[in-house]
Amino acid sequence: MSYTAQRYDFRDKTGDYGRLAQDLTGLLAGESDRIANAANTAALIFAALPEINWAGFYFLRRTELVLGPFQGKPACVRIGLGQGVCGAAAAQRRTLVVPDVQKFPGHIACDAASRAEIVVPLLEGPALIGVLDVDSPVAGRFDEADARGLEALAALLVSTSAARPGR
Ligand code: SME
Repeated sequence: MSYTAQRYDFRDKTGDYGRLAQDLTGLLAGESDRIANAANTAALIFAALPEINWAGFYFLRRTELVLGPFQGKPACVRIGLGQGVCGAAAAQRRTLVVPDVQKFPGHIACDAASRAEIVVPLLEGPALIGVLDVDSPVAGRFDEADARGLEALAALLVSTSAARPGR
């Protein structure tokens, strides 16, 4: 595997998310292990996006979300469907952009520095397999361009990886 870090300034958000998707495609090429690919996806997002303090995954296990690969401070391990921003996005199967987590009823504070959050459900066809969660210390940090861009990255992870890859 080879990967050359590319600089992004996100002044052109849509363009930079497009470049990030190209980088992610290269990063995941030839590998189908979902945990490995989720780990590299979290690392790429954390390295590339400005003003974020956590990026990572929760995967659906029976009736709850369980912490997966991430970058940032240690986080809560299990989140019930419908709980917090992650559980709400999972239950509703739609991306949630939260400008101020202090105003989101039931928000689960893992890092007290977090002020804004975006959660993208991971959908494999109709099936929910988990969520991508990104936190920021800056209120109002995420917008619709972030939602579309992160949804594209999440879709790449799902399409290039399997929960139980063949060997
Ligand atoms: N804030 C999330 C919990 C996960 S951490 O932010 C990593 C929530 O409310 O679901």
